[in-house]
Amino acid sequence: MYKKDFPIFTNTKLNGSDLVYLDSAATTQKPQIVINKLKEFYENYNANIYRGIYNLSEEATALYENTRSRVADFLNVSSSEIIFTKGTTDGINFIVYTYAKNKLKKGDLVLLTEMEHHSNIVPWQILSKNIGFNIEYVPVSKEGKLKDLDKFLEFKPKILSITHVSNVLGCVNDISYISRLAHKIGCTVIVDGAQAVSHMKIDIKSLGCDFYVFSAHKMFGPTGVGILYGKNEILSEIDPVFGGGEMISSVTKEFPVFKSSPFKFEPGTQNFADVSVFSSSIDYIDSIGIGNISDYIKDLSSYAVKKLKGIKGLHVYGEGNLSGIISFDINGLHSHDIATLLNENNIAVRAGHHCAQILMSSLGVSSLTRCSLQIYNDRSDIDKLVYSLDKIVNYFN
Ligand SMILES: Cc1ncc(COP(=O)(O)O)c(C=O)c1O
Repeated sequence: MYKKDFPIFTNTKLNGSDLVYLDSAATTQKPQIVINKLKEFYENYNANIYRGIYNLSEEATALYENTRSRVADFLNVSSSEIIFTKGTTDGINFIVYTYAKNKLKKGDLVLLTEMEHHSNIVPWQILSKNIGFNIEYVPVSKEGKLKDLDKFLEFKPKILSITHVSNVLGCVNDISYISRLAHKIGCTVIVDGAQAVSHMKIDIKSLGCDFYVFSAHKMFGPTGVGILYGKNEILSEIDPVFGGGEMISSVTKEFPVFKSSPFKFEPGTQNFADVSVFSSSIDYIDSIGIGNISDYIKDLSSYAVKKLKGIKGLHVYGEGNLSGIISFDINGLHSHDIATLLNENNIAVRAGHHCAQILMSSLGVSSLTRCSLQIYNDRSDIDKLVYSLDKIVNYFN
């Protein structure tokens, strides 16, 4: 039903076949309204923001700030709590160096989970090497349930950094509950929302976390834009790590006086064109309704899981989680071979370790095939996938 909003499906064919795009967890396709807005920006509004005392610059600034307010409303927070970054990875690194580096000392504990994307592991490992804090990983069941979180919290971690939705198992962590538990022992809660925002209603007030990060490109928006939410109480207390133009009130030979948040965290020329355009992705989501997107993805996921399970030797990981992320393996076949053969029919899936090697080893696999769904997918995409997988299985047996 929504496929027609996305020109890539009309424009790209392979060997005469239509594109079946099942890799939206990696990046979503862009609707025409977002593509138009980018062109419109460069044709009508392009000027550097905040610097120009002339109309064009003021209009560009207004568009940039309009996105900030739209995002703040979308998340039910205040605009001063929204910082633009380059993406989820950049957002987590920002928190690690701007916040955690000063908070943590040798012997402290940072709690992660086994289901984290490398973006939420590697920055902590790098900093831990410098500071000497410890990292523990909450184990995860095969279905994607956290095991013994409460026991790990008894070790009094200073920080818990956790994904909202797993990019492999599609399970949803109950962030409201987790935040309440963690806050009881004074532990800061950081949430990686990369796989949640495009199809779940995110109300930060009810989630109760201290930081929440995600990427615009995974929610129909442009690449190179990330959103970092941080609680006002925290952001006003911390100093920026990166300095440059436009983030200061004044500079002397001694030291600068910083602007308030979020401006003190956005030095230099920002990615103002893409940020401005991102408001149209939110418009697009709002035009459908996030609740409708959620229902649609759940329904399609359950159809897909049912169909996929009919394939001989195919095993779905986390099959009860209907978040549009379905990872599977097929006895005796390597995921790269599966993905390569599917590509011959213009079916795009992801194969490999999904930047989640710790989870892969806890699941006892080295690689999986993942199909990830979005509103532009429909049952015919699933049918084509299942038809091709059946052929692949029969070919190898
Ligand atoms: C759960 C999760 N976290 C973080 C990331 C990294 O996002 P980005 O590459 O946009 O920074 C991804 C990307 O797939 C992800 O799935």
